[in-house]
Amino acid sequence: MKTDLKPKTYLKKNIVNDHSILEFYQDDGLNYQIPLADGDDPKTGLTLGEKIIESDIFPEKVLEIGTGKYAPASFILLNNFENISIDGTEIDEYDYGVLNSIIQQNGLEDRFKNHLGNLFDPLVPGKYDLVYSNIALLPVPPKFNATHHDHGGYDGWLYLNEIIEKASTHLTKDGYLALVVFDFLGIHKRNSTSIPSLKERLHENGFIIVNEKPHYKYIRKNGATYQVLPHIKNVYPEALFYNAKKQLTPFSLTSDDLYVYYPFILAQKIG
Ligand SMILES: C[S@@+](CC[C@H](N)C(=O)[O-])C[C@H]1O[C@@H](n2cnc3c(N)ncnc32)[C@H](O)[C@@H]1O
Repeated sequence: MKTDLKPKTYLKKNIVNDHSILEFYQDDGLNYQIPLADGDDPKTGLTLGEKIIESDIFPEKVLEIGTGKYAPASFILLNNFENISIDGTEIDEYDYGVLNSIIQQNGLEDRFKNHLGNLFDPLVPGKYDLVYSNIALLPVPPKFNATHHDHGGYDGWLYLNEIIEKASTHLTKDGYLALVVFDFLGIHKRNSTSIPSLKERLHENGFIIVNEKPHYKYIRKNGATYQVLPHIKNVYPEALFYNAKKQLTPFSLTSDDLYVYYPFILAQKIG
């Protein structure tokens, strides 16, 4: 069933009593609200949700891996598809608790079931039309102090690889897998001879890429990504970065405005 919501028009960030609230609207007014903690701004998750609903797919039973505190992509889907039902998993107990109260505040307990645990482990067997994730995939050096929120192990693939390997068994025939993925991990080609690209991993697990939508993420000075740039350079010598205007040669990282290509990837199960 297709609806005509235009995501940017129906999403607002409001400030009430000095606190930020994400608000999701329908034609007849405010539908859902997510109160954000100070400093939180789940832009990438919102992008994931927006790109899914722009993709001309109409899922009814879906799974988000790594919902976090706000599950922004899931709220976009809930606001856009009135018959959708969602399962989510989250490993962090605090984030899991915050999201459960937001689900309750919005009266969504019947449509959005959040589960505490690792990736697919807490789920009861069942098939989904779509699995999606804005999972932690920042490559970090050994002993780097990063939270679950960001870090994806030494080469960034710690969780993403398992998601790709297991998604297929949780999807219906022709089901979809939607991701946002750092380009430096190697999407269509390898950026390190020894680390397979996303395309290779998807093919090995019975998926083909059916859509790619551009998205760039700003690398904040002193943010987690900025801190691990030297490590990324070691692991992915061929990786490219961007400034506001042009592609930078590999690792000319001196630009003040540094961006990383972080596209939305939609893959479909074949066979
Ligand atoms: C980048 S955040 C995304 C949060 C939220 N989905 C969003 O889009 O804003 C990644 C989330 O995945 C969770 N996570 C990391 N490893 C996980 C695992 N093994 N199983 C389930 N969730 C995990 C983290 O705790 C974090 O909340």
